[in-house]
Amino acid sequence: MADPKKLFIKTYGCQMNVYDSERMAEAMGAEGYVLTEAAEEADMVLLNTCHIREKASEKLFSDLGRLKPLKQAKPELKIGVAGCVAQAEGDEILRRMPLVDIVVGPQAYHRLPEMARANGQAVDTDFPEEMKFDRLPERKAPRGPTAFLTVQEGCDKFCAFCVVPYTRGAEVSRPVDRILTEARGLVERGVRELTLLGQNVNAYHGAGASGDYTLGRLLREMARIDGLERLRYTTSHPNDMDDDLIAAHGDLPQLMPYLHLPVQSGADRILKAMNRKHTAEQYLRLVERIRAARPDILLSSDFIVGFPGETDADHQATLDLVRAVGFGAAFTFKYSARPGTPAAEKPPVPTEVADARLYELQALITEQQRAAQDAMVGREVGVLYEKPGRLAGQMVGKSDHLHAVHVTDPEGRVGELVRVRISASATNSLAAVRVG
Ligand code: 5AD
Ligand code: SF4
Repeated sequence: MADPKKLFIKTYGCQMNVYDSERMAEAMGAEGYVLTEAAEEADMVLLNTCHIREKASEKLFSDLGRLKPLKQAKPELKIGVAGCVAQAEGDEILRRMPLVDIVVGPQAYHRLPEMARANGQAVDTDFPEEMKFDRLPERKAPRGPTAFLTVQEGCDKFCAFCVVPYTRGAEVSRPVDRILTEARGLVERGVRELTLLGQNVNAYHGAGASGDYTLGRLLREMARIDGLERLRYTTSHPNDMDDDLIAAHGDLPQLMPYLHLPVQSGADRILKAMNRKHTAEQYLRLVERIRAARPDILLSSDFIVGFPGETDADHQATLDLVRAVGFGAAFTFKYSARPGTPAAEKPPVPTEVADARLYELQALITEQQRAAQDAMVGREVGVLYEKPGRLAGQMVGKSDHLHAVHVTDPEGRVGELVRVRISASATNSLAAVRVG
């Protein structure tokens, strides 16, 4: 039998790209490709790209430059660009980088096998009628105890800084039965924890057997799947946190006490200019309601500093909001002007000012993150083992609150969900001993 062809995939950006890469690997698997970790031995290299900030986009072109010698040494090597840069800059990529054979957008990648079979350059950045998920091969390979599952894609919110509504397109929700089938299949293959993904996951509105399902209703349905012990979802918009979804955090033991709820800024002026359609006060009240439903929930968020027009007072308002909430984690970004978005037309905040604000916000968040982690010491929590630790007799996994935990447990097995007592807090992880 001939050696199988080898596929190398590099994934940039968000968790949805991680999920998409996995599905593309499976689609190419049906064509006889196996994954390789080494680009040098690949017959096909696929770069699954991110367009969210300027730096993320630029990486693509430097990586493509580095592939030139490989392509020269092996002209039959196929080079594909997928993801959001492919969607936004497909023609530009082909013009600047003739070594690229395939450009495929995030909604068209079910057509990748066909494109790979063809000769010459091929571009597909359509938003096709048919849903890619209906055309992709069934997921079969055994896998680890955690997995992502895309339930919703695209965004209709049009925040003034964001390219997602243009690269991923309008909001689309997958039907409930497809999601449940995929979830059950993953559980049969060893998955214990699912993270439901969507650019705006809590705007989920999927068709189900008995009408329209919201995310809260979908989660309640998923919590009934035998063997599925943990559920998470990301990323959410504050305005889509409805009562039922908030209540689900109190009602469903499977729904883990960690929620990523981006707020972006704590200044009403800036929130308005960002087209976020809520105030800082409304966000704080929402946090109160969520904590009333699930008091031990850890919140994380995204922040942008240096949005056009942001003053020192606005920045202080962001710091005030962070102090008022107390986050368990957060991602901070310096505003990056994205072509085609409304905010890109406005005069930027000077780089030094934005850098200083980023530094200050980051320091406050690091402090809060540390405090939240330290506060776990002495507590009993669940940990799902993902792999053996570096030390003998040690297992590593995530806590209910998404902290990395090293557990002393010589009997531990990957995929086991255990109770542990947290014994110490280190820089980026917790130590624990198994109980019970
Ligand atoms: N500049 C900086 N950060 C951005 N994000 C989205 N667009 C931009 C931009 N143009 C951040 C937001 C979002 C996260 C995924 O990326 O904080 O929540
Ligand atoms: Fe982008 Fe999120 Fe705003 Fe949608 S809600 S436009 S994905 S930041």
